Amino acid sequence: MKITERAEIIRREMESDFFNNRLDFQSVEEFRVKYIGKKGLIPGLFREFGSLSSDEKQEAGKVVNILKKDAEKFVSELKQKSESDKDKTDFFDPSLPGLRPDVGNLHPISITMREISNIFREMGFVVEFGPEVETDYYNFQALNFPENHPARDMQDTFFISEDTLLRTHTSPIQVRSMQKQKPPIRILAPGRVFRNEAISPRSYCVFHQIEGLYIDEKVTFSELKSTLEIFAKSYFGNDVKLRFRPSYFPFTEPSAEVDITCFICGGNGCRVCKNTGWLEILGCGMVDPNVLKASNIDPEKYSGYAFGMGPDRITMLKYGIDDIRLFFDGDIRFLKQFS
Ligand code: PHE
Repeated sequence: MKITERAEIIRREMESDFFNNRLDFQSVEEFRVKYIGKKGLIPGLFREFGSLSSDEKQEAGKVVNILKKDAEKFVSELKQKSESDKDKTDFFDPSLPGLRPDVGNLHPISITMREISNIFREMGFVVEFGPEVETDYYNFQALNFPENHPARDMQDTFFISEDTLLRTHTSPIQVRSMQKQKPPIRILAPGRVFRNEAISPRSYCVFHQIEGLYIDEKVTFSELKSTLEIFAKSYFGNDVKLRFRPSYFPFTEPSAEVDITCFICGGNGCRVCKNTGWLEILGCGMVDPNVLKASNIDPEKYSGYAFGMGPDRITMLKYGIDDIRLFFDGDIRFLKQFS
């Protein structure tokens, strides 16, 4: 068979190989080696030229040179295609770890407030919210702080105008709830509060409270005690003990402050509880009849209890955080630790 005929056969095979190429690196390389590699089909044709007459050489040379040029064009086209296809399909490696989207997480105080709210919700308390900018009436007067009464001094207040202010506690939500609904009332009110305190690792001008209120016929102090005990045991653990100390708030009578046995040392005394074995977590008491009256609830028929606790301090104790200001700096390095 003449070289030009064989060149024609090789061309057809080459075209079919070109169109069926799998376009990965190896297939392209195989194509190149088969047709134009050193020992490939086309260089093989050239090697046979030695036995030809000069006329035959000229004729065959034309044909084989064109074949060689086309082969080179095919190789470079295959290389290009395999590169661009690589981006689309071959690049996917299912064994690579996925890219994790950068999602946020709850603030540590939100975590605490949700955990605490859930315990009280199971006991039938309904979560309520109130405004952070309050009137003097809801923050003080309706809560039995008379005007110019020294009890107002307990809460250094940011005033906005003569009778609007940033709420100093969540207790105004007690009044708003009593005015909105009839007893029985059983609410829990978490939120931010503001006081003009000297800023230090232990106190900040913004902090949080969780307020509780229960009003019904014949509500007793012992119900308050048992409710708080159930809460403390489910939140801090079954071994925790509670201690009620007499205290004073204008809107409750009698009033108490509640300590729990230190959950770090179990009550033996440590750095966190300053060797007392006790940690103060909340204030509480029976709702003062004057407060019921201010909200049109008959104190002869109804009674109730209220409590207010500080989730900031509880969160600090729980995670061993020694500076309250970290909660308000918005430093991602701090906040990310609670995801
Ligand atoms: N509002 C009180 C405070 O901020 C806490 C409290 C709430 C006390 C409810 C008794 C009853 O100190």
